[in-house]
Amino acid sequence: MNQRQHLILFVDDDLFILRGFQRSIDEYCDNWEAHFALSGNEALTKMSHHSYDAIITDMHMPAMDGIQLLDAVSRIAPGVIRFVLSGNPSDVQILKSTHLVHQMIPKPCEIEKIYDIVERACCLRDMLLAPQLLRIINSIKTLPSVPRLYNQLLEQLQSKTSSSLDVGNIIAQDAAMTAKILQLVNSAFFGLSDNVSSPQKAVTVLGLNTVKSLVLGIQVFSEYRGQRNLPISVDTVWKRSMCVSSMAFFIARSLNLSSQEREDARVSGVLHDVGMLLSFQIPGFFQNVRFDEYGQTETESEYQFLGTSHAEMGGYLLGIWGLPNSIVEAVTFHHMPSLQPAAKPGLLASLHAASGLLNMCQIKKDKNYALYLDMPYLQKLGLTGHLDEWTLAACDLLSHAN
Ligand SMILES: [Fe+2]
Repeated sequence: MNQRQHLILFVDDDLFILRGFQRSIDEYCDNWEAHFALSGNEALTKMSHHSYDAIITDMHMPAMDGIQLLDAVSRIAPGVIRFVLSGNPSDVQILKSTHLVHQMIPKPCEIEKIYDIVERACCLRDMLLAPQLLRIINSIKTLPSVPRLYNQLLEQLQSKTSSSLDVGNIIAQDAAMTAKILQLVNSAFFGLSDNVSSPQKAVTVLGLNTVKSLVLGIQVFSEYRGQRNLPISVDTVWKRSMCVSSMAFFIARSLNLSSQEREDARVSGVLHDVGMLLSFQIPGFFQNVRFDEYGQTETESEYQFLGTSHAEMGGYLLGIWGLPNSIVEAVTFHHMPSLQPAAKPGLLASLHAASGLLNMCQIKKDKNYALYLDMPYLQKLGLTGHLDEWTLAACDLLSHAN
């Protein structure tokens, strides 16, 4: 387990609550150094002297509330991960501030749960060491959506006959919208016992009216209106993600994974290259990273330029947004699954095989699995015997997609 020290700032106007945190942190959180502030202003003063990994603030405080504080933090220290504690489950103000709040935590909340949520985000943060990347990713408000799907969603939400299922089905096709809706619904704020990984279920849980007000009112989603003539487009990422999604589902089914895992494989496929959508907002990315003719990055050039790759960036974003762990892991390691060894085949194996085999079929050179797949990983899981059958399915899928 990663035991890197993390520096965490707690903000609450109630001294009694802060003292309670201090006691339980001393007892439970070995690798945390925690600082405490009784107001937003005191927190900002502390931030000018220390480099915090995360800030956890109460929502309702006099003078400066939690959202106003996190707004200031996002500007003066964008690399810090931002959490808000709130005891009010109907606080739409927080939902409307998901561009400022990475995750919401219900109040009261045991320190064990807070530690799990915050430590997980901090560990993902440790994987992305470049501070300028953290600043960019932590500042992301929305990711670019496929314009056609974005417009379809607007139409659907404005129609009097729209249903949660119709709206969920549109969101499920788009990586940016899926990521954002899952961030909203998985906020610990809702206190759901199980994480929600399906966009359709997310719309049902949030309620169509809430989704409507978030999408139409404060535009939690955004259509891509960026530069043209880039080596990839939002549409390219979308097409590949849809194929990987179908293929990952197919593989999960052929491995007899549970119906939940099969659906998670489908969602992971949609989300697997969400890091590529981030790249549209990273200055110099398209000038410095090389792409092959199919719009895939050459991983080495990504590492040279960023010190990381789209896979880790995407996983980090989904992690600080609070998406289910298994999906975050699958996205983070989809090109290098050996870094996340598993005892039996699961989501990551399905996603890795789907993405690798589709690349191989697209390039249509030799059937050289080792060029596209982490063979030692697949061998360990006893999956190499499936590869010929899966390759046929992947090539078939591509022939229908083109
Ligand atoms: Fe990828």
